[in-house]
Amino acid sequence: MGKIKRIGVLTSGGDAPGMNAAIRAVTRTAIYNGLEVVGIRHGYQGLINANFKPLKASSVSDIIQRGGTILKTARCMEFKTTEGRKVAFENLKAAEINGVVVIGGDGTFTGARLFNEEFDIPFVGIPGTIDNDIYGTDYTIGYDTALNTVVECVDKIRDTASAHNRMFFVEVMGAEAGHIALYSGIAGGAEAIVIPEIKGEADNLKEKLEGNNRRKKSSNIIIVAEGDETGGAMALAEKLKPSFQDYDIRVSILGHLQRGGSPSATDRVNASRLGVAAVEALLDDQKSVMVGLQNNEIVLVPFRKAVKLHKDVNRQLVDIIDILNV
Ligand code: F6P
Repeated sequence: MGKIKRIGVLTSGGDAPGMNAAIRAVTRTAIYNGLEVVGIRHGYQGLINANFKPLKASSVSDIIQRGGTILKTARCMEFKTTEGRKVAFENLKAAEINGVVVIGGDGTFTGARLFNEEFDIPFVGIPGTIDNDIYGTDYTIGYDTALNTVVECVDKIRDTASAHNRMFFVEVMGAEAGHIALYSGIAGGAEAIVIPEIKGEADNLKEKLEGNNRRKKSSNIIIVAEGDETGGAMALAEKLKPSFQDYDIRVSILGHLQRGGSPSATDRVNASRLGVAAVEALLDDQKSVMVGLQNNEIVLVPFRKAVKLHKDVNRQLVDIIDILNV
């Protein structure tokens, strides 16, 4: 204790609803513990450009309910280089910042991990990405809100699909992960899902949909994760079209609307918990770790593990999709 007097906070990678709630929690917990806080704008680019602004308790009022991030975010190529990280270190030293909380996903933690191997200013991470694909935490900030947004969209698509007896391929985000597709598939009553974690799905899907056809299902909704090997909803629809001439097929790509909006209560509460835990971890002399939630308890996970290991989808939930499509 006692080494840390001023901390920095930044958001990096894709924005996620609840990031503002986390910035607020980090800022206020630091002030509560007698520390000064500096907001670093535009992610790691702000470290390299010394784009810093002091944050007071009032700087983060009226943001808990807002999507996006008041600090802005970016994916920074320069921070991937040793030279870039050296410049960041010099800027942090000059600004007398002795610890940094980074809010983001895989790429963010990879950068933080490298920085902490080279320099002695501790970085602590908070998982923030709608994809929920970070190993070591059951939950990432933004996932719950994005999921609810997707389910709302799927419900609406269901109305029109059913009215027209159509087959809909709905593409959701998840470049390398099917968590959004899986959960929205169950919550939206989808007939099938197609996700990167399960290979060879296109052939199985044909069989499943033929079965639905025989059982006279009048409409079908298939949720496709954008990063699936089939190439996404459009490519998959094209591939299956010849086998389902009787169906009117439509594709709906939900895109970035999944990333926006006011965070859900769950995202706000978890972001607040993780924000408090991140500052406490810095005060506890932790470095190169992510604060996460496992079984609703705060845990510390080394960046090394969080970025290297893969978080699989829950296979029992994958089975549920098939069972309920009977
Ligand atoms: O990582 C979050 C995410 O929304 C992914 O689901 C998606 O593949 C990617 O970001 C999109 O990134 P961009 O906003 O740069 O297009």
